[in-house]
Amino acid sequence: MKRLYKYIIKGGKPLHGEVEISGAKNAAVAIIPAAMLVDGVCRIENLPQISDTEKLLRILELMGAQVRYVSPGTVDIDCSGVSLSDRIFRYTRSIRASYYLIGSMLGRFGKARTTMPGGCNFGVRPIDQHIKGMKALGATIDIGKGLIQAESPEGRLKGARIYLDKVSVGATINVMIAAATAKGMTIIENVAREPHIVDLANFLNSMGADIRGAGTDVIKVRGVERLHGGSYSLIPDQIEAGTFMTAVAAAGGEVRLNNVIPRHLECISAKLREMGVAITEGDDYIVVRRDCPLERTNVKTLPYPGFPTDMQPQICVVLCLAAGTSVITEGVWDNRYQYVNELKKMGAEITVSGKTAVVEGVRSLMGAPVAARDLRAGAAMVVAGLCAEGTTVIEDVIYIERGYQNIVGKLRALGADIAAVSEPDEPGRMHQSSQESAC
Ligand code: EPU
Repeated sequence: MKRLYKYIIKGGKPLHGEVEISGAKNAAVAIIPAAMLVDGVCRIENLPQISDTEKLLRILELMGAQVRYVSPGTVDIDCSGVSLSDRIFRYTRSIRASYYLIGSMLGRFGKARTTMPGGCNFGVRPIDQHIKGMKALGATIDIGKGLIQAESPEGRLKGARIYLDKVSVGATINVMIAAATAKGMTIIENVAREPHIVDLANFLNSMGADIRGAGTDVIKVRGVERLHGGSYSLIPDQIEAGTFMTAVAAAGGEVRLNNVIPRHLECISAKLREMGVAITEGDDYIVVRRDCPLERTNVKTLPYPGFPTDMQPQICVVLCLAAGTSVITEGVWDNRYQYVNELKKMGAEITVSGKTAVVEGVRSLMGAPVAARDLRAGAAMVVAGLCAEGTTVIEDVIYIERGYQNIVGKLRALGADIAAVSEPDEPGRMHQSSQESAC
């Protein structure tokens, strides 16, 4: 896998054509650890080829799993031979979703040993609700020196009633994974309802689990002794699709997005329509067209089905181009405006106060050297670069590659002038084919 260094975008070209949306990152990063519960071979299809999924597969391999790529996007995982191993720590420290190993290890071994998770930095990211859930299921937890060690004294977790004090995607998923093979019934209340939570429940059920209510406020998990092998295809990535939607809204043009679930995109489509973007929906595709000036609107991020926090930086770029004043309120994370200073370098007029950003529309953005501060902040820089006048150089694109499969190749196919430039040890070498740009 080639590590890339920066993207160079010559902006101002409208986007035209069709793009295939990849499988959902946040479903994949839950389902790969959950595969540890499966007795036998589990085939996962529509898996996004991004660095976060590759790291999680590597973690399973280091624990003794057999991982075999059947074709791009399809992988067979056999966890028959897995055991706990400290060799995984260099990977678990670098990704957020490694916290799902707590639930899957407890479910598989009755004990867990991993590190505190890494991931994008947008303020404090506590995991107290994950821990509360595991303790309710009977685990003792010891956290110290960056390590998390958990153990179920009876060797198998026991079903329980758990109320989450905060609507948390991660805690909902982690408890669901742990409860799948616990003894008896677990009822999880005040859960998150994101599409990937339903996808994880469907995955586990297809392997023999008994989970009901995913997609509502209460999930009921009747624990089973073991899960069996099978095959499962992941849902498309809501946020990747949303990012392409904002790219078309910002740069103009008309693009058909294939392999999407339009219902999952409604929260994003609604806002873009308010701004004057035309969106038509088919069964598994949508067409996004923008050929007129953008109108201002307000956006508040909320847990699903609200507007996704993971789309907040990208929609901010579109709001920068809308006439008048728009207001963004971040309703999920404490500190998700780190990208604003970068956008200001491109001529954006944004004032941040706490969780609110006031965006004054400008005639256009101007290309500039900027950095990807985190995954979605980086995606916003790409959207900004596509619509800006002149050249934008984005550094630290390694963040973007954690979550977007072949973003450079996909945008080039839509007519964008974007190139990925390799590490400084190969100065000046341009990677322009989709293969070279993928991570
Ligand atoms: N929270 C707690 N305690 C907890 C867990 C969460 O207070 O134990 C708080 C958080 O601080 C935050 C809120 O609850 O204020 C929601 O956090 P959540 O647990 O839902 O977030 P997460 O599971 O850590 C996942 C995604 C994020 C996405 C959020 C919200 C993964 C690996 N990450 O994070 O995705 O922003 O849900 O939808 O699934 C991204 O893809 O760019 C990304 C950051």
